[in-house]
Amino acid sequence: MILITGSSGSVGKAVLQEAIRKESKVRGMYRSREEATKAPSGCEAVLADYADKQSLRKALDGVNSVYVVCSPIPQLVELESNMVDACKESGVKHVVLNSAMGAGDYPKSFPGWHRKVEDKLKGTGLSYTILRPNGFLQNIVAYNAPSIRAQGAFYAAMGDAKVSYLDAGDIAVVAVKSLHAGAHAGKTYELNGPEAISNQELAKRISKVTARTVNYVDIPESAQRESMLGLGMPEWQVTALLELQQYYKQGGGARTDGLLQSLIQRAPVTLDQYLTANAREFRDQAASA
Ligand SMILES: NC(=O)c1ccc[n+]([C@@H]2O[C@H](COP(=O)([O-])OP(=O)(O)OC[C@H]3O[C@@H](n4cnc5c(N)ncnc54)[C@H](OP(=O)(O)O)[C@@H]3O)[C@@H](O)[C@H]2O)c1
Repeated sequence: MILITGSSGSVGKAVLQEAIRKESKVRGMYRSREEATKAPSGCEAVLADYADKQSLRKALDGVNSVYVVCSPIPQLVELESNMVDACKESGVKHVVLNSAMGAGDYPKSFPGWHRKVEDKLKGTGLSYTILRPNGFLQNIVAYNAPSIRAQGAFYAAMGDAKVSYLDAGDIAVVAVKSLHAGAHAGKTYELNGPEAISNQELAKRISKVTARTVNYVDIPESAQRESMLGLGMPEWQVTALLELQQYYKQGGGARTDGLLQSLIQRAPVTLDQYLTANAREFRDQAASA
């Protein structure tokens, strides 16, 4: 039996779907009862919370391999550490940990939190595979589409920094292969998309697929901070996002290599494919109604 945590989340949901396609005994872990009722067929759903150690013991009953993921929140280190301890106590054979790009060389922000869990996992002596993905293509709709729909523009203080976005579905393929350990045991995979792209170029590509002019507007970091706080984002999250942006501005997100392609044994999803498939998300809903 394999256990996929974070089954309601953006990457965890993709990993669960891939696991159902490829494996016979799959359990999806949910925190909320409501989300658990949406579990796809082909898996059994279990309710558990990283903060509730007893619930983790039940979720891990009879499980050999676990994919561990948590929301990017300050409690991530403590919550995922609970899960790592529970895996050790339950006799799990292999853990695939969803970490983040930068955990190897950037101690701030989300990468810094993920690095602590990586070190914790390594310290247990459990067999592991660590995945350090770059930014998800799915972020482009999640973060940029609302202001593009409303104003035909998106805003940040990224300058001309580039990011090699990758598809959550491609991460899922690597995750499910890694659950079998084998040659993946003891490996840390830095996963990049096939093309590094600046926000200026991203705006051009979105304009092309939507047939409307979309602009990227570079603003001072202080203005970006005020804007995010004004939208109701908590201080810790604004600080973490701006620190991650600094990492991108230092070139940390711009790497491209063939590792993802060699692991999934096909071409990764490209930015243009993703934008074409999601073009309606960027269109002005009122204008197209
Ligand atoms: N987005 C990116 O570009 C990117 C890039 C690299 C790495 N990452 C990393 O990838 C991870 C996942 O990102 P995501 O966008 O998929 O996050 P997400 O959509 O928030 O999903 C996180 C999942 O963790 C679950 N979870 C949260 N707290 C939990 C708890 N106490 N017990 C059990 N489960 C809990 C959530 O369940 P609920 O639905 O119940 O809250 C959800 O299913 C993050 O750690 C992030 O740092 C993201």
